[in-house]
Amino acid sequence: MTDYAIANLPGDGVGQEIAQEAMKILAAAGDKFGFTCRVESFDWGCDYYLKHGEMGPADKLTTLKDFDAIFLGCIGDAAKVPDHVSLTILLEIRKGFDQYVNLRPIKLYPGVATPIRTATPESVDFVVVRENTEGEYSGTGGFFKPEAPEGFAFQTAVFSRKGCDRVIRYAFELARERRGRVEGDRVGMLTNCTKSNALNYSMVYWDKIYREVAADYPDIKQDLALVDAMTMWMVKNPEYFDVVVASNLFGDIITDLGAMLQGGMGFAAGGNINPERKFPSMFEPIHGSAPKYAGLGVVNPIASIESVRMMLEHLGQAEASRAVQDAVTQVLSQGAVRTKDMGGTASTAQVGDAVKAALLA
Ligand code: IPM
Ligand code: MN
Repeated sequence: MTDYAIANLPGDGVGQEIAQEAMKILAAAGDKFGFTCRVESFDWGCDYYLKHGEMGPADKLTTLKDFDAIFLGCIGDAAKVPDHVSLTILLEIRKGFDQYVNLRPIKLYPGVATPIRTATPESVDFVVVRENTEGEYSGTGGFFKPEAPEGFAFQTAVFSRKGCDRVIRYAFELARERRGRVEGDRVGMLTNCTKSNALNYSMVYWDKIYREVAADYPDIKQDLALVDAMTMWMVKNPEYFDVVVASNLFGDIITDLGAMLQGGMGFAAGGNINPERKFPSMFEPIHGSAPKYAGLGVVNPIASIESVRMMLEHLGQAEASRAVQDAVTQVLSQGAVRTKDMGGTASTAQVGDAVKAALLA
């Protein structure tokens, strides 16, 4: 029987309770589809920082590298540790394990209300491929005389040929794969989310590489949207999009908007993928740690369950992944078990139980 080693990093705030539901669904999927998961949990996060002065042990990448996949709950608790300090752990894993693709499906499930009028389950079904290791997040920069009147800070975006090429290529491949899977004329298109009208080096270079890679995919329609216009189109015509490729920061921003199309942060999941599988990939809900709700059992676990669904797909358990999706679809469309964000009174664990029951039914 296949046995997977899974690292569980619940993190801060509500991380513990959503990780519990994620692991519940992972185990249930294993029971149903005949595999096991050896889950090892790590208490890294802001409380660890308060005790040890760092977010996790120095050798955390060595500890994690032999796992088949990582689940990450949520990191950050600004009352304990400043965000730009606590969040280094996330960026360290993404970069250290060369998880250069941040895959963020934007899908609205039936039965979920969204604040955006154009969003329906039919109109919202696309994927953002976010570059995840460089670009605006390259971490290069500095302060010059920060306290002086002439002080300044600078932060440099790095767009390497290799870094652009590989993520754009991944996105074209995904567009090709989706075209085979989904019917309809909106599929088979890769939108290049850019800002080359203003960012005259980085995004001009990014566009150039997009066009070079596109030459290898004549069957996929090319498309370009400046990021500002992109936010408008995402609201006005969400049905237009199929696969979108974006730089690190732009991908970050547009996927929060994407989360609203999906009905809220409680539904949005992401996979930090190392496509070569040289290192483990990491799956996470994209919401924050909501410390004020910690321990109350009220937050929506669907985003975490969705990250498990993505993890299963990555692990090659396609059937299990689809079954989780069906179970989520069933629970959300029936609408009997809903957390507070959906106007219900169910607890985090009750939603997890309902998805588990649907999965095992
Ligand atoms: C995300 C988050 C992170 C990011 C933060 C927490 C550093 O917003 O995963 O989208 O900006 O990548
Ligand atoms: Mn974000």
